[in-house]
Amino acid sequence: MLEYERNSSPSGLGLKITGVDLKNEIDPVILSQLRSLWVEYSILIFSGQKLSHLEFEKFSLNFGEYGDDPYIDSIEGHPHIIEVRKEANEKATHFGSSWHSDWSFQKRPPSATLLHSKIIPPVGGDTLFANTIRSYEDLSEELKSELKDLKITHSASLPYADDGFYALEKEKDRSMKIVPSKEAKKTYTHPLVRTHAETRKKGLFINPVYSLGILDMPENESKRLLDYLYSHMIQEKYILRHKWQANMLIMWDNRSVMHQAEGGYEGHKRLLHRITIAGERPS
Ligand code: SIN
Repeated sequence: MLEYERNSSPSGLGLKITGVDLKNEIDPVILSQLRSLWVEYSILIFSGQKLSHLEFEKFSLNFGEYGDDPYIDSIEGHPHIIEVRKEANEKATHFGSSWHSDWSFQKRPPSATLLHSKIIPPVGGDTLFANTIRSYEDLSEELKSELKDLKITHSASLPYADDGFYALEKEKDRSMKIVPSKEAKKTYTHPLVRTHAETRKKGLFINPVYSLGILDMPENESKRLLDYLYSHMIQEKYILRHKWQANMLIMWDNRSVMHQAEGGYEGHKRLLHRITIAGERPS
């Protein structure tokens, strides 16, 4: 029987789920319960789930079609699974180290990301999530009305362009297969305040990795406003800190959280597998 437990974080995020074995076919009633809990709490956490690639793929497809994962080579034979990997002796900065919402530069960014842990270091390597709906709701009515019709340009250029972070990084021992490209300079414009397609709740759809600037606003004003919003969004009260063990699967909703991977595990290997699920055009 499916059981769930909230954590003590004030963020309103995250639910630990037990009583379901993800290797098995999931009963449609349980599946619909999982979907409702996922959109309500944004992050579902399943422990003790040892999964093969095929089982991971099969479970993920319960939540929609695969997303499109550019700029990172997938696992051979599994074009929709990427490895989030750092070797024990690797000097390159760990992947996902700044706040972001997965692939927000796409026309239809992924709704869900599923991350399955294989090798987890004994210290560090937590993943932090920030509740972008709560942080929006807490803004003053005056600021909400200022943000109401703003649009913001997103692109993958900062990390993935041919002159971006990964192309120019000095440390050459990165074990993840990242493929920078000119394509990464392509931009998409999304509303700064996004209405969640399932809950209809409004949230801030911005992040410092992929959001370039607010449309029709002078650069310095846009930067000032975004910097203010980012520091508001990452206050402790909006954050869930996820501590990993091997064989955990977590799935989060990119429409209501942004996330960041923490380091602090030098000398230890960390390996997880990731799948994204296609979302809708933000509105
Ligand atoms: C990611 O940004 O998808 C990676 C998160 C993590 O490694 O904890």
